[in-house]
Amino acid sequence: MSAREVNVAIIGGGLMGREVAAAIQRWPALIDHPVRPRLRAVCDINEAALGWFDDIDTVTTKVTDYHDLLADPTIDVVYVAVRHDLHERIYTDVIAAGKSLLAEKPFGIDEAAAASILAAVEKHPESFVRCSSEMPFFPGAQMAINYVRSGALGTIVQARNSFLHSSDLDRSKPIGWKRQNEFCGEAGVLNDLGMHTWHVPLRLGWAPESVFGVFQNIVTERPNAEGALVECDTWDNAVLHSWANHEGVGFPLTTETKRIDPGQKNTWVFEAIGMDGGVRFSTKNPKSVEVFGLVDVPGNGQEQAWHQVDAGSQSVWPTVTGSIFEFGFSDSILQMWASFLAEREGLLGDRFGCVTPQEAAATHAIFRAGMDSRSRALPVNPR
Ligand SMILES: NC(=O)c1ccc[n+]([C@@H]2O[C@H](COP(=O)([O-])OP(=O)(O)OC[C@H]3O[C@@H](n4cnc5c(N)ncnc54)[C@H](O)[C@@H]3O)[C@@H](O)[C@H]2O)c1
Repeated sequence: MSAREVNVAIIGGGLMGREVAAAIQRWPALIDHPVRPRLRAVCDINEAALGWFDDIDTVTTKVTDYHDLLADPTIDVVYVAVRHDLHERIYTDVIAAGKSLLAEKPFGIDEAAAASILAAVEKHPESFVRCSSEMPFFPGAQMAINYVRSGALGTIVQARNSFLHSSDLDRSKPIGWKRQNEFCGEAGVLNDLGMHTWHVPLRLGWAPESVFGVFQNIVTERPNAEGALVECDTWDNAVLHSWANHEGVGFPLTTETKRIDPGQKNTWVFEAIGMDGGVRFSTKNPKSVEVFGLVDVPGNGQEQAWHQVDAGSQSVWPTVTGSIFEFGFSDSILQMWASFLAEREGLLGDRFGCVTPQEAAATHAIFRAGMDSRSRALPVNPR
């Protein structure tokens, strides 16, 4: 198959800008993908950050003002990975320039920003827009999604999707933009990690009817660049207890986003338990998917059992990687991009796709409801 060439630019050459640049360089790992992206241009206001891209031969343009990229008619797709307070302005500018956009979460700093980005998407249908969320592209996550879609759960009893860190356990870790409401947003950890926990539930049709949030700000001060303690006002942990609906039957759906969960490093967990079956997957054990069922135990009849299945390396798009090998974070970024660019060409088919602008905006409504619910928590008055 001859793949269509697409020219990509990155705005924001920090942690995620470099991760995506590296994923695009691994494109030949995909078998017969209909698109071939070429990273052509990078923008960062910090010139030092641009130096990292020197080793990528296809990058011919490095600029410090993103408007220069948007004025370049040869650029088709822009990936933007910048602070949350900059999302609205840069995303809407990219969309208005008619470029396709893979936006980073949380798709605007708050509900109003997300609505403004969504309005730009609707005004410029020529711009294909999706939002980043790569963890569901782990083969084990895909297996879990397919399990739910098969109907094997029967009536759903409960479901959970979590994203768990512990990097903020270290109180001496300097404050950065992600730990300040001004730049990260009032939703704090929900803005950082919430999209990861809602992509699959929303795609399964589990938009919640109601939400109750439990929030923690555990570390309230952190050192700045000079070592002085300054306010760290973002929520560290947030758990949203919600009521969702599957085929007409309600069930409790819990999403957990935690920057301080001792022992966890970027752990994404999905679990759905039903009357007839169950499925669990965690990136902590990326090869392993657990499914629930009854098993004949000789001499004891049928017993309940969790079975363990090895997921292997193959996800949504086939790769040259041996199917028994292991899958990792950078593979999930490659798979997410493969889906994004295929969907842009109208060639996604029934494969799993990236977060839509409508889904991304919906997460902000959920976060807002979760934050507002705190004022309605009832005090417990023992008699
Ligand atoms: N999908 C994921 O797993 C994941 C992981 C981490 C971060 N993120 C998201 O990615 C985005 C960026 O996070 P990060 O960790 O890469 O941040 P970062 O701070 O490492 O990088 C941001 C970069 O943007 C640059 N920048 C700032 N203003 C700019 C401007 N006006 N024009 C061009 N460049 C500018 C900065 O100099 C910096 O190099 C955020 O939305 C964050 O939530 C996603």
